Formats: sequence, structure tokens, C-alpha cells
Amino acid sequence: MITGEQAFRHAAAVACAITLVACKQPPASRYTFDSALRERGREVIERAGCAACHEIPGIDWPQGRTGPPLLGFDDVGPIAGALPNNPANLARFVRNAPAAKPGSTMPAMPISEEEAHAVAAYLYGLDSV
Ligand code: HEC
Repeated sequence: MITGEQAFRHAAAVACAITLVACKQPPASRYTFDSALRERGREVIERAGCAACHEIPGIDWPQGRTGPPLLGFDDVGPIAGALPNNPANLARFVRNAPAAKPGSTMPAMPISEEEAHAVAAYLYGLDSV
């Protein structure tokens, strides 16, 4: 299913590709993370049950639909439509969404700061499909 947000992101990516001057390097290469950290992030995601509400590549089940699918974060716009897209903000959001984005409908999750950082590494490393 293509959501309005995904369509917006796609349009933004196309606009970005056209405006080469504004995008000096492909967004996919913005961040690189250690593979051990990413694997740790995947474990945290499984343990915390993020997939109860999100479809997350690499997590086969349960692929919930309450929240948006979490595809690669390298080439998307603001996190949850509100926060500048960078690893620190993503870590902050996945740990305590209502604090990071007032009014967010995603509940705070029982993960540590260090775990949230690993989760952000995992999400940034996913290829956008
Ligand atoms: C109870 C359901 C629920 C759970 C559990 C949940 N989320 Fe969410 N999540 C949501 C909802 C709803 C949104 C949309 C919130 C918003 O836009 O403010 C969201 C938004 C997000 C976003 C922003 C998506 C975007 O397109 O910008 C990320 C990233 C995210 N969640 C990651 C996680 C991670 C990682 C976990 C586990 C640690 C998790 N979520 C657990 C419901 C959930």
C-alpha cells in the first residue's frame, strides 16, 4: 500500500534527484554503522516488539500496521513528519516518541539510550525499497 507520506517521500526523492546541486551526495551514503551495532539494534527491535505496530525489513513477524512501515531512513524526510532526520533524533524518537514529538501516537518504549542508538543504526542501514 502506498501511503500519502510515501508518495510524498518519493516525490521529494525525485525532486532531489533533479536538483543535483542541492544534493551533493546520494542520501544513502550519509551514515555508516558498525554491523555488530546494527545486529544489536535488530535484537532490540525484536525484544521490544516494535513489529507489533510496524512492518520492518528483517523482522518477519508480526508486521503490524498501527504505525508506518519502517523502511530505510537514509532517504526519507523528517522523522514522523516532524524531526530533522539524523541518528540522534531517531534514537530519541524510538525511545520516547511523545517526548521527542509532542502529540505522537507512538508510545514510549522500554529501551535504554544505548539500545535506542543501536535501533537507529539498524533502521538507517535498511535499504529503502
Ligand atoms: C503501539 C504501537 C507502536 C509500537 C509498539 C512502536 N511504534 Fe513506532 N510508531 C507508531 C505510530 C502510531 C507511529 C506514528 C507516530 C507519529 O507520527 O508521531 C510510529 C512512528 C515510528 C517512527 C517514525 C516513522 C516515520 O515514518 O518517520 C519510527 C522510526 C518508529 N515508530 C520506530 C519504532 C521502533 C524502533 C519501535 C520499537 C522500539 C516502535 N516504533 C514501536 C506505533 C508504534
